[in-house]
Amino acid sequence: MAELQPVSEMSERDALQELARLAKALLQANAAYHQLDAPQISDAEYDALKRRNLEIEARFPALKRDDSPSDQVGAAPAEGFGKIRHAVAMLSLENAFEDSDVADFVARIRSYLGHEGALAFTAEPKIDGLSLSLRYEMGVLVQAATRGDGETGENVTANARTIADIPHQISGAPDVLEVRGEVYMAHADFAALNARAEAAGEKIFANPRNAAAGSLRQLDAEITRSRPLRFFAYAWGAVSEPLASTQSGAVARLRALGFQTNPLTRLCSSAEDMLAQYRVIEAQRATLGYDIDGVVYKVDDLALQRRLGFRASTPRWAIAHKFPAELAWTRLEAIDIQVGRTGALSPVARLMPVTVGGVVVSNATLHNEDYIAGRNSAGAPIREGRDFRIGDWVQVYRAGDVIPKLADIDLARRPEGTVPYVFPETCPQCGSPAIREPGDSARRCTGGLICPAQAVEKLKHFVSRNAFDIEGLGAKQIEMFYPDPLLPIRSPADIFTLAARDAANLAKLANRDGFGKRSTDKLFAAIEDRRRISLERLLFGLGIRHLGEVAAKDLARHYNSWPALIEAVDAALPAALAHLQADAAEAEERAIAGQQGRRAEIAKARAHILDALDLPEAARAAWAGLLAIEGIGAVLATSLVTTLAQGGHERAAVDALIAELREIIPPEARATQSPVAGLTVVFTGTLEKMTRAEAKARAEALGAKVAGSVSAKTDLLVAGPGAGSKAKDAEKHGVRIIDEDAWIALAGEA
Ligand code: IVH
Repeated sequence: MAELQPVSEMSERDALQELARLAKALLQANAAYHQLDAPQISDAEYDALKRRNLEIEARFPALKRDDSPSDQVGAAPAEGFGKIRHAVAMLSLENAFEDSDVADFVARIRSYLGHEGALAFTAEPKIDGLSLSLRYEMGVLVQAATRGDGETGENVTANARTIADIPHQISGAPDVLEVRGEVYMAHADFAALNARAEAAGEKIFANPRNAAAGSLRQLDAEITRSRPLRFFAYAWGAVSEPLASTQSGAVARLRALGFQTNPLTRLCSSAEDMLAQYRVIEAQRATLGYDIDGVVYKVDDLALQRRLGFRASTPRWAIAHKFPAELAWTRLEAIDIQVGRTGALSPVARLMPVTVGGVVVSNATLHNEDYIAGRNSAGAPIREGRDFRIGDWVQVYRAGDVIPKLADIDLARRPEGTVPYVFPETCPQCGSPAIREPGDSARRCTGGLICPAQAVEKLKHFVSRNAFDIEGLGAKQIEMFYPDPLLPIRSPADIFTLAARDAANLAKLANRDGFGKRSTDKLFAAIEDRRRISLERLLFGLGIRHLGEVAAKDLARHYNSWPALIEAVDAALPAALAHLQADAAEAEERAIAGQQGRRAEIAKARAHILDALDLPEAARAAWAGLLAIEGIGAVLATSLVTTLAQGGHERAAVDALIAELREIIPPEARATQSPVAGLTVVFTGTLEKMTRAEAKARAEALGAKVAGSVSAKTDLLVAGPGAGSKAKDAEKHGVRIIDEDAWIALAGEA
């Protein structure tokens, strides 16, 4: 895995790829966390992924994905419980990590509201458990639901009734009241539970949060009863009448109704105050007796909360200030080299197992050979040039990626006789030369599909969740089938001939260990099902270097069918090859000129090479057509064309696959909902009921596009008092003009 590229240095292309990677990593992490109660990554690491995603989206707003993880909360509910649709969505919180993030949060709220006077916030511990929504009707607990994906949760009413902190009846409450809060397990109870489980030879929980989640989500509520769960109330969902006019008042009301509320909650009047309370809570963290992972700040005035409203999945009026990630020291026992789908040789640290942030870690990424050697890709020293050696004591942390990382080495504890690590120059899997091209941080195996490691990784990618997603055929099964003497799967097409080949064999898959008739039938049916596949999944599944999900979608939307796409790819081949040639010449020039120097001359030489080549007009046109697609650059286009075009190294395998498919589904047109969805709106003049920022955010939340100036493409001008030239422009273009009240009525928000 390559070192994380700073967001500030990303091109659009990089950003697209990285957003796709993050979306996938977060999806997997979410599923593991919410559905299996078995997290693969720590919270700090998850937060870092989400933050990186947000950062990239902030820099490239146009690249935000339709399925952006920023808009998603948790994962879909697991099967087995009834589903409950939340009357009011259960959202998550934006995160702050630095003190300056908190000051920014306050400043942002002030500017959004145009508010200069006093502004109060509550500060309270962020409980590390799982959220629960309790619905009371006429004072009686009628329903309890987990968060699920934020929209729909699991019905855990029977389980919730077994928790002592949750009253079955309350008096003096509104007729309808949804109380929201956190289910958690205290440290002492967790230790006792695990001790009992260990004695009984049962499964041990990794941390109190997993224990709480696993205990609440028991199909048999009697098991939940035997687990010591607790509950803090800190929020509410649907209410038939307001609880109070402030956050602190509402929480006090919940306490009066008989709920536990956190005693460390304070009212603050500034960012300094909030940070002071953060330090107070942080200082008590170790002795609280239950896990907390940060401090939550909320605007106290509920009328202001309402005005601030929500982004796609987080409120603007609250933020979670997280505690820093944990670090741990352990020994580096070995360095293994893994070979990835695109041939990259990725060094992996094998560690003496150590617990970091509640998860046992025994592997960490070492990125690439430079990183091991203590230098960055430009050759400058990192870690003051300290290199990683087998036997070293190293510092592990979990942040930013699915795999833990190593931060540093303790040279004082370096054993005698260690030697610098020598990075292999041949592929450890197939023995082909492993080459590092100029500008690439990875050394790559040149074996292509001859290399079993690359072939297996490509197949794993092909069947993965966002590609062909074949149930019953995952990474493990690919590893098994690839070398299978009777039923090998060496290429995607082999997957679709599996059933027929099995039928022709004497030894049947159904008779093997771990298969049986039912699971074999299911597998074959799942494969059969995927003979019908969307164009974008097909493209993404091919695992072409630089072709992520976003680009696959873009290509699918543009070409709309496989024949159209492949025709363009074939036509563009001469241009792509010319590009490669120009690249090679450029690299040579660079080598002669020294890495940086004479940029202009190099660019000129490159343009010259491209011009001089006698490219057929059709090739030029097809190539230009590819590059004109938003999000498709020369690097991706070259990779796509040289891989797929007639004569390309994968065309035969791809043709064989296409022949097995029954239908390739073109992408769907996007749907719209609200009355203003799809309209381009311009605001001008003074708005009296809200600031510009607020107006823009609300309009966008309803699916409208907000533009800065009036043109023929404008649908609507919302003009307040003092509207000037924009109103004139609107008249000129025949654009409809309305005032702020009419806009509010039209947008359906009172
Ligand atoms: S307020 C609209 N307050 O953190 C947001 N959440 O990362 C309402 N959490 O889903 C949530 N302690 O499960 C709030 N004092 C607290 C919290 C808290 C823990 C959890 C909650 C939420 C998640 C967001």
